[in-house]
Amino acid sequence: MSAPRAARGALKKATKTPARAAASAPKPASRFPIADSTGPPILPNRANPHLKNPPVLPTASETTTMSPRVMTILGVSALTVSTYIGYLYASYSREVKQSQSLSVPHDVSDRYNHTAGSFDADIEMSEKLMRMGSKRAALIHRAHGNVLEVSCGTGRNIPYYELRERRGINAQGRMVQGCRSVTFVDLSPEMVEITRGKFEKQFPDEKVRVEFRVQDAAEVPRPGFSVEGRKQEGYYDTVVQTMGLCSMPDPVKTLKHLGTVVEPLKGEILLLEHGRSHYDWVNRVLDNLAPAHADRHGCWWNRDIGQIVRESGLEVVEEKRWHFGTTWKYVLRPARTGVELEKS
Ligand SMILES: C[S@@+](CC[C@H](N)C(=O)[O-])C[C@H]1O[C@@H](n2cnc3c(N)ncnc32)[C@H](O)[C@@H]1O
Repeated sequence: MSAPRAARGALKKATKTPARAAASAPKPASRFPIADSTGPPILPNRANPHLKNPPVLPTASETTTMSPRVMTILGVSALTVSTYIGYLYASYSREVKQSQSLSVPHDVSDRYNHTAGSFDADIEMSEKLMRMGSKRAALIHRAHGNVLEVSCGTGRNIPYYELRERRGINAQGRMVQGCRSVTFVDLSPEMVEITRGKFEKQFPDEKVRVEFRVQDAAEVPRPGFSVEGRKQEGYYDTVVQTMGLCSMPDPVKTLKHLGTVVEPLKGEILLLEHGRSHYDWVNRVLDNLAPAHADRHGCWWNRDIGQIVRESGLEVVEEKRWHFGTTWKYVLRPARTGVELEKS
């Protein structure tokens, strides 16, 4: 090597920048040992005895794996459910089409003459599921004095009546009135006969006055009583109707009439009815299938019971709804005039 060339090499070495020198210098070993190239550093025991190594989390591929057996079960279940929903939808669409094509008369009350024999069996299960027994019991518990039950059907309320003039003494020491008499009325002679049979079976030795009539609820007269040998017109203390407004051609007229046969000051009309829901989607289903249901069962299940009650002009004492709003309970009384309010 020539002298000037050796001098240039020596000068270059001597003038290397500190940064470049640092970069090219070998790296010092990490303070903590590394588990592997991807894992977290392992803390030496002496660093802090309270610190623990962080848990090793599963990788994405480890979390998403599912056994082929589970995947098969889920797949078959999804297919079964979607097939069933498809089947239900197809049947519903077919029923709606058929229902809408029917021409059903407004008055379908004659259907009960054919269905009376199977009525109880047909509705038993749905009434159980909807716990209608307790709702009927609570309503009929309120009945007292001379009672009129219209649209009595097969007498499904009979088990809940507390007959006899005196029911007992309440917590305040006051006598609680029972049912002094009961008059059962229905348009269908077959229904009335079933009610009579049930009543006689349930109360074989009952001395209470009971009557069974085939009659239109809108034409029931006020009860007649004999006072000192003279016949006088009285009133019913309680009028009961369960699931009846759906079956009659003019429910408003019938309710108005019932308001004239119940005692004007203290009398009550007790209703347990079914009809329109709180929800539009339920009402759509009821509306779509109403003609077929009315034709088969004699009942328009999409009626607005609240509207019927408002149009009757009767006063609402109590009101309650269940089952998406389709079951309606009402305690009503005749609307009071100013004079009657003063008297009460
Ligand atoms: C759905 S059933 C209800 C029967 C019973 N009240 C119950 O809760 O199970 C309706 C009943 O109302 C009767 N009905 C229909 N229109 C009537 C009317 N204008 N007067 C009296 N009863 C009537 C039918 O004959 C039938 O027995």
